[in-house]
Amino acid sequence: MSESAAASRPSSGVTLQRLATVSVVVPTYKEAANIPTLLERLAAVRETHGLDMEVLIMDDNSRDGSVEEVQKFGAPWVKIVVRTENRGLSPAVTQGLYEATKEVVLVMDADLSHPPEKIPELLHELEGGADFVIGSRYTPGGSTNDDWGFLRWLNSRIATLLARPLTSAHDPMAGFFAMRRARLEGVTLNAIGYKIGLELIVKCNLVRVSEVPIHFLDRVRGESKLTLGEQLRYLQHLRRLYIHKFGGWSELVQFAVVGSSGIIVNLVVLRALVELGVSSNIAVAVAIGVSMISNFFLNRRFTFSHARGESIVMQFLGFTAACALGAVLNYVVTLWVKRAAPSLPLEVAALAGVAAGLILNFLTNRYLVFKRKHYRSQGAA
Ligand code: GDD
Ligand code: MN
Repeated sequence: MSESAAASRPSSGVTLQRLATVSVVVPTYKEAANIPTLLERLAAVRETHGLDMEVLIMDDNSRDGSVEEVQKFGAPWVKIVVRTENRGLSPAVTQGLYEATKEVVLVMDADLSHPPEKIPELLHELEGGADFVIGSRYTPGGSTNDDWGFLRWLNSRIATLLARPLTSAHDPMAGFFAMRRARLEGVTLNAIGYKIGLELIVKCNLVRVSEVPIHFLDRVRGESKLTLGEQLRYLQHLRRLYIHKFGGWSELVQFAVVGSSGIIVNLVVLRALVELGVSSNIAVAVAIGVSMISNFFLNRRFTFSHARGESIVMQFLGFTAACALGAVLNYVVTLWVKRAAPSLPLEVAALAGVAAGLILNFLTNRYLVFKRKHYRSQGAA
C-alpha cells in the first residue's frame, strides 16, 4: 500500500480518556515486506489519538531484512527483539508481554490482517470495563476475506466451538487482542501453538470479554505459518486449559469425548469390514472390540494419564470389566425407564441408559482401574 493511502485511512472516532498508553506486541517471522506499512499505519494511529505507544516486534531471527526495516523507520518508540531461543509464535508473544512497559498490552499480527486503526476502539472497550478485548472476525459486523478457503473457515469454526466451554467469545482464536498488563501479574503462561489469547482468558481469569468487529484481511505478502502441526498442538493446549479451568470435571469430559470417538471408530471399522465381505455378525463383534481397545488406549494416554506407569494388562482387564458393568447398568436403566414412562420414545430411555452407564463406567475406571496412587506401600521397592 502506498503512503498516502495509509495516511488517508480513516481512524476510528473514539476519544480515549484514561487508557492511552499501550505496548503493541507484534510477533514476526519473515515479515520484512509488511513491516514498513505496519509501522506507518501504527504511527498514524499513534499521532491521531495522541497515544503513548511503544511497539515491540518479536522476531524469530528472520534474517530477511526485518531489522534493517525497523532501523530505517528510525522511531524511538519501535523496538525489534531478535529471538534465537525458544522459537515459536506463543513464546514470542509471551516474551513480548513480559517486556512490555505500558499499562495496556495489545497483540497483533504483522501481516496487516489486523487493522491498526482499530486499536483506539480496543482501548476504549478496556476503559469501559472490559477485562479482555478481541478484534473479532465473528462478532456481528466483523468479517473475513471472501477468498478464505472453505476448509480454513471450517477449521477455524471447529476450533472455536471446542473452546466454547472455556469462553463465550465468538472469536477466541484471534491474534488481535488487548488487556491491562497488571492482569498478567503472578500468572505463568504456557501456551503452545497459536492460541495465546485463549490461554490469557483462562489463566488470567478474564471474565468480561468484549469484541470489536474487524474486517480480517488475508495477508497479501509472505506466507501463513498455520500448519497441521499447529492444529494438533491446539488440541493439546485445549486439554491443558480444560484441566486448569475444570479440574476433576475435565476428566469426565475427556472420558465422554473418548467414548464418542469410540462410536466413530466402531462405525468406521464396521463399514470397512462389511465392505470387505466379512459377515455382519463377525463385523459387529470386531468393531466393538476395536473401539474398546482404542477407547482404552486413549483413556490411558489422556483421561487418566496419571496412571500411565501402572500395569497395562491389569488395567485392560479392569477396563473391560468396568465397561461390561456399565453395559449391564445401561440395559437395566433403559428397560426401567421404558417401563416407568411407556409414553416416552424409546430413544429417551436409551439415552438415560447411556448416561447411567457412562457415569458408572467413568467412576469405576477413575476410582478403581486407573486410581491415583497417593503413596507407595513400604515394601514396594
Ligand atoms: N516470532 C514468531 N515466531 N512469529 C511468528 C511465528 C513464529 O514462529 N509464526 C508466525 N508468526 C507471526 C507472523 O509473522 C505473523 O505476524 C503472525 O505471527 C501470524 O502468523 P500468520 O502466519 O499470518 O498466521 P495466520 O494468518 O495463519 O493466523 C492468524 O489467524 C489465526 C486465526 O485464524 C493469526 O492471527 C493467529 O493468531 C490466529 O489464530
Ligand atoms: Mn496471517
